[in-house]
Amino acid sequence: MLRGNKELWLAFLAMILITGVYALVVLLTREIPPAGDLFGHGIGIVGFVLMMLTETLYSLRKRSRSVKWGRMSTWLQIHIFTGIVGPYMVLLHTSWKFNGIAGVTTLLTVIIVVSGFIGRYVFTRIPRTMDGLEIEGTLSQEALKHARRLLALWHTVHIPIGIALFISAFVHVGAALYYATLLK
Ligand code: HEM
Ligand code: HEM
Repeated sequence: MLRGNKELWLAFLAMILITGVYALVVLLTREIPPAGDLFGHGIGIVGFVLMMLTETLYSLRKRSRSVKWGRMSTWLQIHIFTGIVGPYMVLLHTSWKFNGIAGVTTLLTVIIVVSGFIGRYVFTRIPRTMDGLEIEGTLSQEALKHARRLLALWHTVHIPIGIALFISAFVHVGAALYYATLLK
């Protein structure tokens, strides 16, 4: 069960703190942090690591049969937190230029975050136990069956977008490291 909006508020708070640091760097250096310099590069790498954790951790917990660490609902909250804060850091990494494959990667990142919010909305319509398991029963009739079907359909869109995003991100990282870092 996802109760309240705690993870959304925490993500919002983290974004405000990160924006503060970003603004400080802009004030001190008097320029938009370039994507390949220390700050811009660093924030891109940390953001991307958070995105990879978003892609993997919740799915691993969801599918693990032997090890059951922590509640599913907590893992989903972590998924949502890192799924917002990671992309936000990556956005600040872009230096507001969106050419080529890096621009495509940014677009896919925005799409997956928007899609995540839609999925979160549908997900919260389905009644669950505290551990996140769906509750079947007489109370959950037509409307809830509909929500389940919608969530299944949403998965078939959300997951391929995530895969496309990571393929494009790895091409960008390879190209950026080769052309902008190694050849410098
Ligand atoms: C999903 C994750 C990422 C996205 C969406 C992204 C997006 C971008 C964008 C839009 C730019 C600016 C391109 C331009 O100048 O038009 C950029 C530049 C750059 N990115 Fe990323 N990036 C991501 C992750 C990373 C990571 C993990 C690294 C390094 C390990 C990295 C390294 C670089 C470098 C070095 C540049 C500068 C390229 C140059 O100076 O020409 N990026 N990135
Ligand atoms: C970097 C950004 C994100 C990536 C890469 C990502 C990736 C994924 C993946 C791969 C799944 C499938 C999990 C599974 O069934 O194994 C998933 C599910 C989900 N994601 Fe995300 N996501 C991201 C951001 C978000 C955001 C921002 C939200 C909410 C605001 C969100 C909400 C959800 C929800 C509700 C599910 C369904 C959980 C379930 O059916 O068990 N995601 N995400």
